Amino acid sequence: MTRPNFIIAIDGYSSCGKSTVAKALAKKLHFVFIDSGAMYRAVTLYFLRHNVDLDDTAAVVQALADIHIDFIPNTAQTQILLNGEDISEEIRQMAVSEQVSEVSAIKEVRHAMVAQQQKLGSHRNIVMDGRDIGTTVFPDADLKIFMTASPSVRAERRYAELTAKGENVTMEEIQENLSHRDHIDSTREESPLRQAADAFILDNSDLTQDQQLEIVLNEYYRRKEA
Ligand code: DC
Repeated sequence: MTRPNFIIAIDGYSSCGKSTVAKALAKKLHFVFIDSGAMYRAVTLYFLRHNVDLDDTAAVVQALADIHIDFIPNTAQTQILLNGEDISEEIRQMAVSEQVSEVSAIKEVRHAMVAQQQKLGSHRNIVMDGRDIGTTVFPDADLKIFMTASPSVRAERRYAELTAKGENVTMEEIQENLSHRDHIDSTREESPLRQAADAFILDNSDLTQDQQLEIVLNEYYRRKEA
């Protein structure tokens, strides 16, 4: 290993339980958890608030220059700040979910976010979850996990998450949003969602959170001792 720090990359489709595993792993190993999807959501929220036209590259670039994202790690729930404002809750709303795949397919947005993500992982032990972490952001990650789950399990999880927060959504809307995002995320030109050749595949459709953590920890210790 040429880097002094250990990088764990967790990729997969939306609502596969990536962040649950990533958070548990980071807590157990005392690593910093970085939710890269939250960064794309923060950019989307900014674009929505400022009515940025996604087809206007100059406007997109100008907006990106005005966006500063910070994470406050080690709190019960990782907080994300957009230009100093805590937007951790707001970025989970359906309005953001409906736009985020279009925003994150924009080349200029990806370049800006990937550069920030690489900086965040340049000097500390991290667990980062997303779509292109093991392929584009950290192709040399020490451990790469690719998570999958059946479409019905994913939709049920998302439904439970949103309704628990009081959002008024139907199962049909969730299924539509998930398949729409799957399609855009995996067919976009710039760093599409793909499984890294050297990733460990974890299908968690029938696994408890404890079982998932145990499997991933085993992989971590195997790599660490290698
Ligand atoms: O993980 P999430 O559902 O919060 O991610 C929101 C969106 O961000 C998702 O639809 C795809 C995009 N994303 C991405 O393109 N690349 C990443 N590394 C992380 C997320």
